[in-house]
Amino acid sequence: MTEKRENWGSKLGLILAMAGNAVGLGNFWRYPYQAAKYGGGAFMVPYFAALLLLGIPLMFVEWNLGRYGGKYGHGTLGPMVYLQAREGLKPRSAAILGGLAGALALSVTVLLNSYYNHIIGWTLGYSYMSATGKYMDKSIDTAKFFFDTYLQNPTYVFVFWLLSVAVLAFAVIKGIQKGIETWAKFMMPTIYVFGIILIIRTLTLGAPVNPDWTPLKGLDFIWSPRWADLSWDAALAAAGQIFFTLSLGMGIICNYASYLKPEDDIVLSGMATVSLNELAEVILGGTIAIPIAYTFMGEAGLGQSIGLSFVALPNIFREMGGGQIFGTFWFLLLFFAGFTSAIAMYNYLVALLEEGIGIKRKTGTILVFALYFLFGLPVGLEAILTKVTTLTYFSEVDNWVGSYFLVTLGLIEVIAAGWLMRKKGLDEINKGGYWKVPKWFYVAFIQIITPVSIIILLVNSTISYAGKGYFKLIPDFIAETPDFIPWFIAARVVVISILVLGFIWTYKNIRKTYSEELKANKILVVK
Ligand code: PHE
Repeated sequence: MTEKRENWGSKLGLILAMAGNAVGLGNFWRYPYQAAKYGGGAFMVPYFAALLLLGIPLMFVEWNLGRYGGKYGHGTLGPMVYLQAREGLKPRSAAILGGLAGALALSVTVLLNSYYNHIIGWTLGYSYMSATGKYMDKSIDTAKFFFDTYLQNPTYVFVFWLLSVAVLAFAVIKGIQKGIETWAKFMMPTIYVFGIILIIRTLTLGAPVNPDWTPLKGLDFIWSPRWADLSWDAALAAAGQIFFTLSLGMGIICNYASYLKPEDDIVLSGMATVSLNELAEVILGGTIAIPIAYTFMGEAGLGQSIGLSFVALPNIFREMGGGQIFGTFWFLLLFFAGFTSAIAMYNYLVALLEEGIGIKRKTGTILVFALYFLFGLPVGLEAILTKVTTLTYFSEVDNWVGSYFLVTLGLIEVIAAGWLMRKKGLDEINKGGYWKVPKWFYVAFIQIITPVSIIILLVNSTISYAGKGYFKLIPDFIAETPDFIPWFIAARVVVISILVLGFIWTYKNIRKTYSEELKANKILVVK
């Protein structure tokens, strides 16, 4: 490695950076439409179950993998998994598991970001459009404005996207303390302040359209469990949301944890991250978009997916008093949330280059910018070139990377930290902890319930994917719209290629770093 590994500057900085990593567009843009789609209250039951059974245990596992890997100078998942897996497997088999983990993490950090950075660009664009009143004219159809005027306009799409990635690069180039920590210290508190202002506005909306449509009825929609609506699909979506929102199965929590010192606390800090994220998700995320949409449009307002934030809400902002200001707050909140998460992915890839080919942070940052540009192109160009905003490429990449891969990676991590570390696993998590995980929790959750739940989840996801025809080369719903077949195939080719390249890259790097140990096939390097 060419530069000395940095550490976090302060506990507060660490917690805000970790919360920034987790609190993202997932909390404010994805969560409300998932909850609305799966029946509100019926979604909350599996949601909280997944938080307890998967979210919290995996958060400890990821902090622990990261801190352990950081001790050996690693910030990426391949070697982290290798180091814990070799405790229970022979190094050569552990290297394969590490290779798989690295491949999945690379796919997620490159491909999830290929569209996530675009959404950040949309939020920046919409902050600007709100502040300048661009959609305030009531004769504008907000759906047309978003899907046609915005997404099919190369200037809007490219300027706001590349501007966002450039600011990200500017933050990452400065490193952990001066870059990531500084930005999180400014942006994270702002998110909560804007969120509270927006909640107050939301709850005082009254019933301007229909006496039955009030913000409280909107809240009732999410909070009243309707047991009859419970379904496997809702449970899968809830578990997927937990992974997504807590940034689990992506490698980025591990990466941030790799900048901890070996004796830094994990359990309390991990819990603080989860709590700040859930506060932002269920309280702020759930109390803004859904009640606003409900107040103005009733249940029909909840029927949109991507459009909830970008179509329904703009439509409403111009109806409500002070809408221009509240619209600006809303989109800036989204921008900050997305930004502090995307920094983590960016930093992961920079760490991968630093370790893999020994280059400096600065060069790495520039290379990642180029990489993001290249991989983001198809996402940005699809609507512009086809003049239809179906976003086939985006949806297909998201279909694999945004949920399936996360869960698979989560399984590998918990197997390494829970099963392969054997007796050392619990001690490792608890080392230096202000709080400690009790033994029963480690055995019951990290060794049994969490991995078993993930396996059940994966089996059911696979069945559900098969049912929808995703395992066919060209699923029927794509075959019906031949114009989109090339975009669909391109998405699959890209996903598979990155996975294969990611495996080769990671495996080779583990082989290079631990060559002696792999030759002897027994543990030699211990720190
Ligand atoms: N937890 C993040 C979110 O909720 C997940 C994420 C991080 C996604 C970084 C993309 C990039 O948005």
